[in-house]
Amino acid sequence: MKTRTLPVSKDSILEACKILRQGDLVAFPTETVYGLGGLGLRSESIRKIFEAKGRPSTDPLILHLPSPDLKQAAESGVISDLVPDFARVLSKRFWPGPLTMILPRGSATPLEVTAGLNTVAVRYPAHPATRGLLTELQEPLAGPSANRFGRISPTDAQAVLQELDGKIPLILDGGECSTGIESTVISLTGATPTILRPGAITAAEIAQVIGCNVISDNSSLHDKTPAISPGTLASHYAPQTPLYISGHPIEYFDSPYQYILFTSKNPTLLPHVRILTQEGKPEVAAQNLYRILRESDSLGAPAILFDPIPDSPLAPAIRDRITRASSGTAERRNGGWLFTARTKN
Ligand code: TXA
Ligand code: MG
Repeated sequence: MKTRTLPVSKDSILEACKILRQGDLVAFPTETVYGLGGLGLRSESIRKIFEAKGRPSTDPLILHLPSPDLKQAAESGVISDLVPDFARVLSKRFWPGPLTMILPRGSATPLEVTAGLNTVAVRYPAHPATRGLLTELQEPLAGPSANRFGRISPTDAQAVLQELDGKIPLILDGGECSTGIESTVISLTGATPTILRPGAITAAEIAQVIGCNVISDNSSLHDKTPAISPGTLASHYAPQTPLYISGHPIEYFDSPYQYILFTSKNPTLLPHVRILTQEGKPEVAAQNLYRILRESDSLGAPAILFDPIPDSPLAPAIRDRITRASSGTAERRNGGWLFTARTKN
């Protein structure tokens, strides 16, 4: 199959809708990362998504809604009528935006989307191109990140092509994603709202809006079998180059958000030092993270070493992605580096 890339326009959105309605897939930009879209209520399209990504069918998908109105989503059977009050409050405050809510599944949502669960992930994205596409489509669009399973999420059209060339007919090119890491995922189906994946919308912001405690430590979810939220598997988003996290700030340069691209594990050889944000801005670090990891990967270095990520509201989200991409930790020892493989519990 030949994969075409078209800039977002009225015409390319119409073309995308035509392809989607035929049951085929289209990659689309969002504010977080690029998604791999298929009609969310059609099982055949959903199966094609899993196949193109090489994703196990046990890992559920997010539905991107055509409207932020949860009542409408319930009426059309996407979510159940039992919409928790918190969900209404959060949708009013954070949609459109990078927040995904796990809610009780409605009868119109196929079990293929939810990997057999009776809950469904929904989000109403902020990117004008995504909203343009959804408005034209007028139905939910299933959209996991447009990468092959276990690989780094794409944040521009070129990265999508690298991942899915020949597997899908169309990529809508909406430029570089502004957030750069995937949406915050919060489950609202248990007694206490629980963050399953940290993102740009933080647990503290959510707790403040709903006025109650939010569970934000998702580390206990990692490597559970069966996975509570399968995308929270400890090993995920991995570059091909082994990535290590330094126990202490690396002393080469005095800049936060730096990381080192080793030309060799031999520390006497001069390493490449790269910096996620020259200005020390966490939102710029998040936006650049996947693109720079992808670039670094293509250089074929034997290892990547990350500084500890400094504290900021975005730190849990950035640390989550880097930790899950990592092979282990590194310590300075006797003028060299001691690499320790991560133990997976
Ligand atoms: O920013 C984003 O959310 C991007 C853009 C394209 O919207 N999408 C994205 O999708 O990151 P994906 O499939 O790569 O990640 C969805 C996450 C996974 O961790 C999945 O396990 C979790 O949401 N998830 C989906 N449905 C769930 C459910 N019913 N219960 C628990 N976790 C769920
Ligand atoms: Mg993903």
